[in-house]
Amino acid sequence: MLSVRHCKAQQLETAYAQCLVSLLACLERFSLSLNAFSSHVPHLEQVNPPLWEFGHVAWFTEHWVLRNPGRALGRGLKDPNLRASMRPSLLPEADALFDSATIPHGDRWQLEQLGRSGIEHYLSRTFKEAIAILQLDATRETALYFHRLSIAHTWMHLEALEMTAQTLGFERTESAEPMTLDVRDQAPLAIDAQALRASPDRDCFFFDNEFGGLEADIGAFEIDAQPVSLGAFWAFVDDGGYERESLWTDHGWAWKTRQAAAGPLHSRRQGDLLLCRVGAQWALGDAAQPVCHVCLHEAQAWCNWAGRQLPTEAQWMAAASAGMRWGRVWEWTSSPFVPFSGFTAHPYEAYSEPWFGADHWVLKGACAQTHPMLRDRLFRNFYRPHRQDVFAGFRSVQAAVAGCATNSTKPPERLR
Ligand SMILES: [Fe+2]
Repeated sequence: MLSVRHCKAQQLETAYAQCLVSLLACLERFSLSLNAFSSHVPHLEQVNPPLWEFGHVAWFTEHWVLRNPGRALGRGLKDPNLRASMRPSLLPEADALFDSATIPHGDRWQLEQLGRSGIEHYLSRTFKEAIAILQLDATRETALYFHRLSIAHTWMHLEALEMTAQTLGFERTESAEPMTLDVRDQAPLAIDAQALRASPDRDCFFFDNEFGGLEADIGAFEIDAQPVSLGAFWAFVDDGGYERESLWTDHGWAWKTRQAAAGPLHSRRQGDLLLCRVGAQWALGDAAQPVCHVCLHEAQAWCNWAGRQLPTEAQWMAAASAGMRWGRVWEWTSSPFVPFSGFTAHPYEAYSEPWFGADHWVLKGACAQTHPMLRDRLFRNFYRPHRQDVFAGFRSVQAAVAGCATNSTKPPERLR
């Protein structure tokens, strides 16, 4: 499937339809899980109340596509009074219910909800109307910007809803990407020293945090050909990794102690067996598969144990550009989420700017639950370092010549 960045209007129309079908199917699946739509969903930092999240997805598309008087200007839209000039919503109370920029996370459990049928109706009307508008915009690339943004946003939230289902122990959908590792990939990859330049094509859709591009002079290094496996991670656990403070950063050890963490989330030993929980079910874990649901602190501790390092964002990008295979789990890097030189916020200002320098760290790649339209090596995901609910693992690097591997970010030994 073509990327949301490059595809034609006809493919965007198909994508809108697929978004709606996927949302309604996901809504149906959540409705089968007890208490999914009530205030009984626990107040967790890492989840939204599911029904709120479905409503928010409709609201976002309505906001930027159906109601936006500056839609035709695309990413060049600059209007400080945009909210005041928005067309009315299909729902009179939509902004008060579903605007993530103004409704604090903790308040989303208190809002009057529309009920499942109201949300289904809101989703259906919004996405059908978006398709009608797309047909009017089809010949103007600039006007396709907000359609691409809305489709990307929807796929991101559908992945977040999978994370929520995993966190809450609800039924999960089967991932689109097989998790089987290719054993031919086992030898580490050698990456030459280089002046890395990786930036998006200005003529295509891109996210604002990608602009300016990644520029770094990096030394030669070797990188794992595949993410660290469940078996390799459990070797660290079995070696007392969670009891050895010297392997952890200060923040990591404080987190581990606070959480009483003793191994990767949703994974446990039973005798000689490794078990993993997928949705509501515990199943036999495959030691050769990538470890998943580890936070940055755990990834860093494993690297210290193994005498390795996490890749910087630049190292990861250099390896991906050299043909490294990726896409089964998000991969933590040692790079903080900061803007590239020349950053300018796009109209959806809350996407990147509030999170720069706010203890968020870059993850690269994609996971099995990431929609194919979103997969791009330029994409920069970002999360706080303690998040275990992300479908994230990591791989490790080692400098080919000591001291030469990284100069674009601070050394990862002590995360700030
Ligand atoms: Fe959102």
